[in-house]
Amino acid sequence: MAERKKINIEVTVHENVEELNESFKTLMSSAINARKKAYAPYSKFSVGAAVLMENNEIIEGNNQENACYPAGLCAERVAIFYAGAKYPEMRIRAMAISAAALDHGVNEPVAPCGSCRQAISEYEFKQSEPIKLLFMGETGKVIMCNSVADLLPLGFNSSYL
Ligand code: THU
Repeated sequence: MAERKKINIEVTVHENVEELNESFKTLMSSAINARKKAYAPYSKFSVGAAVLMENNEIIEGNNQENACYPAGLCAERVAIFYAGAKYPEMRIRAMAISAAALDHGVNEPVAPCGSCRQAISEYEFKQSEPIKLLFMGETGKVIMCNSVADLLPLGFNSSYL
């Protein structure tokens, strides 16, 4: 007999950045700063990501677009690949993300795309410790989840290889 299973996830929805603790407020400020330096001339949609390392260093990334569209890369992957390149053995604690559009307000949390979830989950699986994710638009609510796995149920990882 087939078994039906329910997969639940839990997130915390903060009213605004001010509700975050000091460390996450700083992390989100870094994501916002990074967002302002995004290279997004085609979509005009800027995203900034800030990765909090175990040594409290913050590594920033933003989306980098390309005239050959698929050659561009999302902010989250720019940031996490840089973190992996700079500190191959260091654990990653959290990532904050902020997105804004040139021609309209983005006032609700913008979650990372599926490819970025997969890329972040690679590092979470490697370090066997959760990476917290915090994401927002340009203003408004901030959603926090305790693990990337929460955003990627039934995910693929190296244990299958
Ligand atoms: N983008 C990100 O940087 N992160 C995401 O999670 C979603 C999308 C970027 C890619 C592209 O440069 C622009 O936003 C529009 O899709």
